[in-house]
Amino acid sequence: MAEHPAYPVGLRLSGRRVVVLGGGQVAQRRLPALIAAGADIVLVSPEATPSVEAMADAGEITWARRPYQDGDLAEAWYALIATSDPETNSAASAEAERHRVWCVRSDDADQATAWTPATGHSEGVTVAVLTTDARGRDPRHTAAIRDAVVEGLRDGTLVAPHHRTRTPGVALVGGGPGDPDLITVRGRRLLAEADVVIADRLGPRDLLAELPPHVEVIDAAKIPYGRYMAQEAINNALIEHAKQGKSVVRLKGGDPYVFGRGMEEVQALAEAGIACTVVPGISSSISVPGAAGIPVTHRGVAHEFTVVSGHVAPDDERSLVDWPSLAKLTGTLVILMGVDKIGKIAETLVAHGKSPDTPVALVQEGTTAAQRRVDATLATVAETVRTEDVKPPAVIVIGAVVQVGPAPAA
Ligand SMILES: C[S@@+](CC[C@H](N)C(=O)[O-])C[C@H]1O[C@@H](n2cnc3c(N)ncnc32)[C@H](O)[C@@H]1O
Repeated sequence: MAEHPAYPVGLRLSGRRVVVLGGGQVAQRRLPALIAAGADIVLVSPEATPSVEAMADAGEITWARRPYQDGDLAEAWYALIATSDPETNSAASAEAERHRVWCVRSDDADQATAWTPATGHSEGVTVAVLTTDARGRDPRHTAAIRDAVVEGLRDGTLVAPHHRTRTPGVALVGGGPGDPDLITVRGRRLLAEADVVIADRLGPRDLLAELPPHVEVIDAAKIPYGRYMAQEAINNALIEHAKQGKSVVRLKGGDPYVFGRGMEEVQALAEAGIACTVVPGISSSISVPGAAGIPVTHRGVAHEFTVVSGHVAPDDERSLVDWPSLAKLTGTLVILMGVDKIGKIAETLVAHGKSPDTPVALVQEGTTAAQRRVDATLATVAETVRTEDVKPPAVIVIGAVVQVGPAPAA
């Protein structure tokens, strides 16, 4: 039997009986995929691990709390034989053979009529890797091949364009705060499949250098906007390229919906009848403080954090922020786009009740090689920004959480 390679096949187990013998670690590892496949699973075992028991409690499997007995496999389409007793396993696989039920065995692959491949998933694709014969089985090697393929598909280093299913349109991808490793797996894959990428100044710009030469990369800041507003010009560029049938990625810094004007682009695309998908990103509002050792919440210190735009001063009539109320909150204030106006902001917070000694940290170009943290208080922050020459992009954190971590490296 071992002389021939195994024949790979995908079993469609939905609603079909699968019998699992043994409720130990092997069952625990294999059951989730069988449940996901919709199989009608009967577990036969006097005992089970707590996780397997939880699956039975949740009604995901039916558990017969007893040892295996002849006849258990009669109605099965597929069996997983994994008791700790080799004799029971042999008796069960003999029964499986008799009833022509494909079975895997955890203790003796040679005696099994089926082998479980190392499997992984990426966006609707199942990757299954099988060693060709029982004697040459090397589960670690197989798993490593599976990992390499799945990782490659996920992060876009293994490019497999969806020729049949790929629908032209626009993906608004949140690129994260700047470190190229902090984009999502889905974002990276869409980037790898794009024909056109329209990118912001902030975000993981290093990823653009990795794109194949045929990909057109457009710097959003350089789109000529003549009689249009910049945002309108970006919307038009997205629409034009998508209408040409291209896959367009709009790569944005952080998360598209956190001060990212993402919804304006979604609305413009919807009006133009263009399909659009939005991929969330790691927002700088949480990740940049974190990268500088500042948690936005901390037990016993801050039970809330508020993310605010500081792009207009508190006394500016365009401001939608209720700064006097924010001054009364005890939690953390995270201010984006606030470097220019931090003097006025700090003044307003103090005028409405915040202590001038409230700690403040400014984290410039967080998660990049140029990351820099500067500490101050509400009383000193305006002067500190000047003397330390803090420049955008920076996230400003105000509150006691600034001081809960280990002291920042000098
Ligand atoms: C227009 S907002 C976009 C925010 C973005 N959508 C997000 O979720 O992070 C730009 C502001 O985000 C902050 N920012 C973004 N990336 C940053 C980074 N790597 N380091 C520091 N601040 C950053 C700065 O306050 C900057 O002025």
